[in-house]
Amino acid sequence: MNCNIAVIKGDGIGPEVVTEAMKVLDAVGKKFGHTFNYEQLLMGGCSIDKYGDPLTDETVAIAKSKDAVLLGSIGGNTQTSPWYKLPPNKRPEAGLLKIRKELGLFANLRPAYLYPELKEACPLKESVAERGFDMMIMRELTGGLYFGERYTKEIDGVMTAVDTLTYNENEIRRIAVKGFDIAVKRRKKVTLVDKANVLDSSRLWRKVTEEVAKDYPEVEYETMLVDNAAMQLVKDPAQFDVMLTENMFGDILSDEASMITGSIGMLSSASLNETKFGLYEPSGGSAPDIAGQNIANPIATILSAAMMLRYTFDLDKEADAIENAVKKVLEEGYRTIDIAKPGEPQVKCDEMGSLIAERI
Ligand code: IPM
Ligand code: MG
Repeated sequence: MNCNIAVIKGDGIGPEVVTEAMKVLDAVGKKFGHTFNYEQLLMGGCSIDKYGDPLTDETVAIAKSKDAVLLGSIGGNTQTSPWYKLPPNKRPEAGLLKIRKELGLFANLRPAYLYPELKEACPLKESVAERGFDMMIMRELTGGLYFGERYTKEIDGVMTAVDTLTYNENEIRRIAVKGFDIAVKRRKKVTLVDKANVLDSSRLWRKVTEEVAKDYPEVEYETMLVDNAAMQLVKDPAQFDVMLTENMFGDILSDEASMITGSIGMLSSASLNETKFGLYEPSGGSAPDIAGQNIANPIATILSAAMMLRYTFDLDKEADAIENAVKKVLEEGYRTIDIAKPGEPQVKCDEMGSLIAERI
């Protein structure tokens, strides 16, 4: 197969981890007879530095013309980087929000899985970690509070900031359907997380999702309030299979879920639209504090590349090969600094990439 991929390495540790994912993809290409054609594009701080804009329309157009986007991370230190002196719509994050919107990537899949080998990295009680967990957070990505109208102005002499949270039934239905479709292929359970005791938008989410649930009688469906969900994630994460939720709740809960896996450096993500097109990126950020030191964990990005093979190219065997290679290096005891126990030997970012590539 001939696969055309836009590669956006981005800022911080992005270039380091994406380089390792490309190394692993090339190993897959060699073994299974596929060609991965990469076109490298700029987004985030590096694009601001070059074009004065975190994401140019030309970059969007090129990305759209490909089959998929492989992304590292964007952004820098919000306290010290000059990027954060710019108006909000010119900062690195604006590029990320724009590409999601422009490419219609409404469904964000964030798996959180506890590797048996990393149980000790899990910050939860041993009795909880022992049981393990394997969930998929389905976060709505192009609506809600992050895309609503917002402004700050003086109202009656008082400085007032307004952010608006809007969802229509179509936006809810399309992601609910994706959530149930994915649950069918997993443990067949969907938990809708909302704040229906307060928010109108949440009540609409419940109504629409309940309708969708009727088409999937084999899937167990439940609702949970978001504050309770935050608690349940640390109390009993094994109860979750697919967690379906709106944009901001998903943003927050996916970070919480990633933390209980031991390291955010292990978690992949996929952002999909209605077609096979997808944008694949690690769940973690640009980690400017460790950038350029070759110590970042490339596994999240490598697993994101596996998701790309699975969801965009339907190459399940090849995706399995990557996931198995990751399991293997962990079983063999190789660890980057973020997942190493005190005193355990550590490998660098590029070594980890090579170890995985060699096991494809
Ligand atoms: C994420 C990030 C982004 C988001 C930020 C950088 C805008 O936190 O992908 O979770 O909130 O969507
Ligand atoms: Mg986030």
